[in-house]
Amino acid sequence: MITLGIETTCDETGCGIVRNGTEILANVVTSQIDLHEEYGGVVPELACRRHVDLIIPVIDQALSEAKVNFQAIDLIAVARGPGLIGALLIGINAAKALAWTLKKPIVGVNHIEAHLYAALMSHAHPPQFPALGAVISGGHTSLIYMKDIGSYEQIGHTVDDAIGEAFDKAAKILGLPYPGGPAIEQLAKGGDPYRFPLKAGRVKSNPYDFSFSGLKTGVLYTAKGQSSSIHDTYVIDEQGKKDLAASFQRVAFVDLIKKTLSAAEKYGCKSIVFGGGVTCNERLKEMFAEAHSGMTYYWPARGLSLDNAAMIAGLGYHKFIKNGPDTLDIEALTRISF
Ligand code: KG4
Ligand code: ZN
Repeated sequence: MITLGIETTCDETGCGIVRNGTEILANVVTSQIDLHEEYGGVVPELACRRHVDLIIPVIDQALSEAKVNFQAIDLIAVARGPGLIGALLIGINAAKALAWTLKKPIVGVNHIEAHLYAALMSHAHPPQFPALGAVISGGHTSLIYMKDIGSYEQIGHTVDDAIGEAFDKAAKILGLPYPGGPAIEQLAKGGDPYRFPLKAGRVKSNPYDFSFSGLKTGVLYTAKGQSSSIHDTYVIDEQGKKDLAASFQRVAFVDLIKKTLSAAEKYGCKSIVFGGGVTCNERLKEMFAEAHSGMTYYWPARGLSLDNAAMIAGLGYHKFIKNGPDTLDIEALTRISF
């Protein structure tokens, strides 16, 4: 069964073509980094206009890379949320138009759930359930108790900035390009991760919730002085910036690792399934390995960490097999809870 998946939740326009939920025939993603770079973050209206321009060429390219035509497609899957409303509508309407004209079934999938499925489709064997899911991206930081594929309960999330967003904002403070994650990781390699005593937030009401906005402010005040603003000049030199990038990265990851491992233990999980753009970070993988937790880690394969549509097609296949199709009146959901 061949599924064509569409992803337009934020600033990537993607079309993936996947056979039987795991075999990737094409995974075309057009990033809009060039468009949003000068603003240091995603500008929703610009993202939407770019999706309109790219959606059809991206679908055409995916079909051509997969060497299939529309007639070979059995199912259309689309990310229906969470995401930017205008961006979601473009993908959903493209998917509906395809489903209607080709007379194929359609399924809407949860983008966050698809990030976790990306790690599952990267491995030949499924994890031992229950597993703990950790979605760490530019838009989300969520700990999810996974009873099985499709059966989840959220046990923690960020109360302010997502972890990737904190990397993006810290990078902006340090004068680094967007997206900030890869730039911080690179700069941190030359720095002392113990030089600056930064702190990640603790959320009193739930030990598995996250708060990164204070950490970001800590980076700002260390870089530019107490009570400074982003436009002020630096009070640290170039080595100081490296040390600050390394300290920020270490503190953010120590917080993430501590909460993830303690949640996994409390909920009796033996495996941790990771998803989202921050999983590109090699230092994060090293630090999880150095924790010697005894857990089995499922990281997404290269190309499946950042937003992509192969993960949408893959999860869409499972949803269809389990629950059947959705109707053509599926709507975009800017927020979806598990
Ligand atoms: O999953 P994704 O493509 O988008 C969302 O669904 O949000 O993740 C993008 C995020 C950005 O915030 C980016 O800075 C972060 O992933 N990221 C990284 C790295 N590569 C990308 N964060 C830390 N280290 C990296 N190497
Ligand atoms: Zn994402």
